[in-house]
Amino acid sequence: MDIKVFPEYQQMSEAIANVIADTVRKKPDAILCSAAGHTPVGTFRHMINMSQRGEVSFERCTFVSLDEWGGITKGVEGSCKDFMYKYLFDPLKIKEENCIFFNGCGILEKECKMMNTYLEQNGPIDFMLLGIGMNGHLGFNEPGTSFDTYAHVAPLDKITIKVGKKYFLEEMQFSVGITLGMKHMKQANKLVLAANGTKKADIIKKLVESEPNDMLPATLAKTRENSFLYLDKEAASKI
Ligand code: F6R
Repeated sequence: MDIKVFPEYQQMSEAIANVIADTVRKKPDAILCSAAGHTPVGTFRHMINMSQRGEVSFERCTFVSLDEWGGITKGVEGSCKDFMYKYLFDPLKIKEENCIFFNGCGILEKECKMMNTYLEQNGPIDFMLLGIGMNGHLGFNEPGTSFDTYAHVAPLDKITIKVGKKYFLEEMQFSVGITLGMKHMKQANKLVLAANGTKKADIIKKLVESEPNDMLPATLAKTRENSFLYLDKEAASKI
């Protein structure tokens, strides 16, 4: 896992967007996957700017869903799908058929099966951008999730439920999520984990100092090649 530290969030975001653009220039029909959440918003902004300047086209890319809260979907502000449309797909004018998404209101096991089958037939993902949860989760792969899992219904950790409130306007009750599995993250052609802000400094220190273990899912990034940790200086302040 290569670590790259940037003075500011904007520079970190721009650097990640440049790597995504390079991937897409080399493979215009690349399969891309990104976390929703606050970490990648700056990257999305740069992707949109690059696309508007004609520097890269995401028209032929397929975007695969990383995760979703159980029981909600697009139309509820704070759902992962809603977030991705608002901050990336609508501004990029991505066609509906190029977004392969979990439906959090569907039968969750069926949704996982659909995603596993899709990636078995079309994968691996070319580029994956993941945020790191305050408990070290990746997607909704919570501490204790085996590195051998594919998409699955995930009981949510107490910390995820507490921190997740920041995405919603109203009080929501969640106990499960659906998520791509650790195996999808292991198999992606390129994996980027990103974190910014002092609130992430402790978990980043733990990640950097730990051997790979399933109690700290982000350590999966240490078990594979072509795997990167992008940080701003605040997230990197304890390493
Ligand atoms: C969201 C997701 C989560 C977040 C993580 C960090 O789709 O997969 O794993 O990436 O919780 O969230 P932020 O970026 O809001 O700090």
